[in-house]
Amino acid sequence: MAKKLRFQSPTGMHDILPEEQYYFQRINKVSEHIAGFYDFKKIDTPILEDAELFSRGVGLSTDIVQKQMYVLKTRGGDFLALRPECTAPIVRSFLQHGMFNLPQPVKLWYFGPFFRAEHPQAGRYRQFWQVGFEILEEKSSVVDAQMIQIFYNILQELRLKNLIVEVNSIGDSQCRPYYKKLLTSYLKVRESALCLDCKRRFRKNPLRVLDCKDEKCQQIKSQAPQILDHLCDECNHHFKEVLEFLDELELPYRLNSHLVRGLDYYTKTVFEIFSDVNPDKKNAANGSQVNEGMTSLAMGGGGRYDALAKLIGGRDVAAVGGAMGVERIIQAMKARRIKFAEEASAQIFIAQLGNLAKRKSLKILEEFRKEKITAAETFGKDSLKFQLNKANKLGVRYVLILGQKEALEKTILIKDMISGKQDTVKLDKIVDEIKKRLKRR
Ligand code: HAM
Repeated sequence: MAKKLRFQSPTGMHDILPEEQYYFQRINKVSEHIAGFYDFKKIDTPILEDAELFSRGVGLSTDIVQKQMYVLKTRGGDFLALRPECTAPIVRSFLQHGMFNLPQPVKLWYFGPFFRAEHPQAGRYRQFWQVGFEILEEKSSVVDAQMIQIFYNILQELRLKNLIVEVNSIGDSQCRPYYKKLLTSYLKVRESALCLDCKRRFRKNPLRVLDCKDEKCQQIKSQAPQILDHLCDECNHHFKEVLEFLDELELPYRLNSHLVRGLDYYTKTVFEIFSDVNPDKKNAANGSQVNEGMTSLAMGGGGRYDALAKLIGGRDVAAVGGAMGVERIIQAMKARRIKFAEEASAQIFIAQLGNLAKRKSLKILEEFRKEKITAAETFGKDSLKFQLNKANKLGVRYVLILGQKEALEKTILIKDMISGKQDTVKLDKIVDEIKKRLKRR
């Protein structure tokens, strides 16, 4: 057995190898295109933030803050956290840079790495990438629906099928406290039957019990009072409008009264989007977020967070947003064997033989680069057979061959790989000749 190398990437953190880059670039490109269409501007925030931004914003009692945050103490004694998510940093940035002075709403999007010390398993990493969209300073319910539409569009453009949107409303500071009380009394008398995790968290955050995947809690969950029956008039009206907009958009959604999300900053609308990850094996257990018997993993989620800006020391900023996990999207794309046409490869190949030819080839390569003609080469290899084989594999139309004789005569050979025809051309005319031939095709 091969000896295990001393150094491996940290548990739950992975290299993005060249073959994976292609998926990342594709998701980034599709997101960028859609962001442009809906007039979102790109934002990047630091990888490290004041840890308190998350304990206040995401919530002290959440798993993210309690168990999953990587926190480091600086030499100066500050506590910084590797960002576990981007909504709190974006609201921080919005307030810090006085973005309320910009034309409203402010629409921002991001694509970057995030960190959560989770138990690594399929689709759950300690460093993962998210693509996210946030609309700040807009309270209209129409943008809640638009936000869901944006994520749906991205996944559809990536050719993912069987997408399911789950929506719920978790109320606001008017109606949620009463519902929490109701739920707590319901759970209190059933506490002994709850799973260990829920026993621990139900007093601080009873809503999280509704999200529990443990078998033990399922029956208790199913008979629990439902928040939708206890929304205040404003939340009820807002949610009704969101559903009407989704109907208008013909987005296939379903109500999930147990959807509460794992971050504390949400008010009113919350949503998650699932895709069938394992279309070939309908019932295989796969991933951590198995959804009611279906092999599904949350591609993304989000919701409204009108109270977040105030929680982190600002003023009220009505806002809605969401984020999707890039690795999860890739996993779903791979499961569906989604491939895209390869990017345009090299148009020509430059083969060389001998030292003088090698020197001249280096220069010709630069001339082609300036003319934006993509040229491949393997200058480190001297065998002509190797070079021609490589050109063949790349499927280029023209191979330029520069041998010792041609280098001395200041000429070069063009071999048409389809017709097999060879022509000798003056070296200082080669770029024009290739331009002409490529234009003709
Ligand atoms: P979240 O549900 O925690 O929400 O994460 C969004 C998505 O990121 C998840 O649906 C999942 O696809 C991906 N994700 C989360 N954790 C991991 C992990 N450990 N490994 C791989 N992928 C993961 C948020 O982060 C909110 N900030 C979303 C939001 C934006 N809400 C409003 N605006």
